[in-house]
Amino acid sequence: MKKIIIGNWKMNLDHLQAIQLLQKINYSLSENIHEDIDIVVAPSHTSLRSVQTVIDTDNLSIQSSAQDVSEYNLGSYTGETSSLQLNKLNIDYCILGHSERRSLFLETDEVINTKLKNLLKINITPIICIGETEEDRNQSIQIDKCLSQIRRIFKGVRKDAINECIIAYEPIWAIGTGIVAQPENASEILEEVKKYLLNNNFLIEKFRFVYGGSVTKSNAKDLMNEESINGLLVGGASLDPDEFIDIIKLSL
Ligand code: PGA
Repeated sequence: MKKIIIGNWKMNLDHLQAIQLLQKINYSLSENIHEDIDIVVAPSHTSLRSVQTVIDTDNLSIQSSAQDVSEYNLGSYTGETSSLQLNKLNIDYCILGHSERRSLFLETDEVINTKLKNLLKINITPIICIGETEEDRNQSIQIDKCLSQIRRIFKGVRKDAINECIIAYEPIWAIGTGIVAQPENASEILEEVKKYLLNNNFLIEKFRFVYGGSVTKSNAKDLMNEESINGLLVGGASLDPDEFIDIIKLSL
C-alpha cells in the first residue's frame, strides 16, 4: 500500500503564506518522492486555489486537500463550499468529520455520511476521521465508539466505496495535546474496523489507514513502523516545514 503523509494546516496561514510553506516543503523534497509516498497539504478554502495552481503550474510532487465540504450541492447556503466547486479546483482529497468539526460545529455522522456520498460521485478522495474521547477510552468503549462512527458514516454507501477512501484514526485525546497514541492503539482500531466492514460485505482490500494526533518527528518513525498504519495526518507539526520534511523522510 502506498504511504501517505497529510499536513492539516487548519485555520492558519493566508494564501500567500500557504504558497510560501508549500514552496519550502517542495524545495526539500526529491523530484521522484511521489513514487514512494503521497504528500498532501490541506490549506484553508481561501488558499486552495492558489496552492493548487502552484502545484499544477510547477508540476510539484505534492497534492492538495480541502479540510471540509458542504453537505449541500448548490444554492442558498451562505458560507458553504460544495463538492462540485471543490472538484473544479482539481484538488485530490477532502478531510471529512474532523473532530474539531464534530465538537465545535456539531457535525454529526449523518452529515458526514451525506458529504461522503457527495464526494464519492466526483474525483476527490475522502479522508474520513474517526476517534474516541478520553472518557470513552477510560471506559474502554473506544472500539464501540469508532465502529458506531463507521457504521453511520458508511450507511447506504456502495460496498466497494471504502476502497476509494482513507480512514484516519484520530483519538480526540491525542489531537493537539502532545499525547500520542501507542501504535498498537491504532492497530487495534483498524483490526476491528476491518472486521466490521468484512462482516457487512464491504470490499476493503485497497483502503488506506492513517493515524493522526500529536504526530512529530520524534514519534513518526515508530508509528509508521506499525504494519497497519499506512500514513499520518499531521496538524501542528505540518506548519513547520523542517519538521514536516523530517516526518516525511522518517516515514519513507
Ligand atoms: P495535531 O492535529 O497533529 O496538532 O495533534 C492533528 C489533527 O487535528 O489532524
